[in-house]
Amino acid sequence: MEHRDWMVLGKQVSDWIKEAADQLRDSLSLPLEISEKSAHNDLVTNMDRSIERYLVEKIRTAYPDDKIISEEGYGDGVKDKTGVLWLLDPIDGTLNFVMQKRFFAISIGIYENGKGKAAFIYDVMGDELFHCLTGHGAYQNAKKLPKLTEVTIENALIDLSATWLKPNRRIDEEIMTDIVRRSSGTRAYGAASLELAYVAAGYLDAYFTMRLSPWDYGAGLILLSEVGGCYSRADGTPIDILEKTSVLAARPGLHAYIVDHIQKQVKKGKIISEPK
Ligand code: IPD
Ligand code: CA
Ligand code: CA
Ligand code: CA
Repeated sequence: MEHRDWMVLGKQVSDWIKEAADQLRDSLSLPLEISEKSAHNDLVTNMDRSIERYLVEKIRTAYPDDKIISEEGYGDGVKDKTGVLWLLDPIDGTLNFVMQKRFFAISIGIYENGKGKAAFIYDVMGDELFHCLTGHGAYQNAKKLPKLTEVTIENALIDLSATWLKPNRRIDEEIMTDIVRRSSGTRAYGAASLELAYVAAGYLDAYFTMRLSPWDYGAGLILLSEVGGCYSRADGTPIDILEKTSVLAARPGLHAYIVDHIQKQVKKGKIISEPK
């Protein structure tokens, strides 16, 4: 494989993202073409597609041998983790984009032979870029993010979707009740990449969700590793970056505490099941 200058790549990708973000901001004053995918709240717009096409084209031109996994279908059918793999979400938080016109992000995570190398999560309307090159520290715009320290559950803000507190087939909703009750409070923002970035930045202490795709969490997990955060599937087992998965991300200590709690609940017969 050719020797890659990751610093050059970092600058390049930041520039592409800023250009794509300009297109997204400009689009807010124009009519959007919206269609439903699997459900009435699973939307895709002309902008999801056009931003993905734009970024995929940039990546393919600059790095023709790399592979891309992306949400809207312009990527590659990727079967393994060899080489350089881009996990790309052109708009993370499409529902926010459509309904709030804020709180959505462009998310790009880059892996080499399965190891996280670079992450970019850009809050388009907040003009905040969370980014890192592995081994060189993580940043929120120009501000370096400190390593994460431990926190008790009582002093923790937990991000989790209300979906998993309502009756459903995938998880016994009481599994998290105790955690929620003991915590300082809960939050949910509707854009997984930003929620993971917020854990990395220390605004949230944990993020728990039962179903994400590689493009949702690809960048976030790299950013989190860079600041000493922990992550796994809900039951504590490792995440495979080619798979849909549950994601539990948190400060060290708190992550172990929540995994331990979930494992005890499972021993008592409560259900959690991974997405297919
Ligand atoms: C969604 C958001 C949301 C998460 C969903 C994702 P999208 O991504 O990240 O917060 O709960 O699971 O699918 O579809 O807006 O890119
Ligand atoms: Ca989507
Ligand atoms: Ca997404
Ligand atoms: Ca998306």
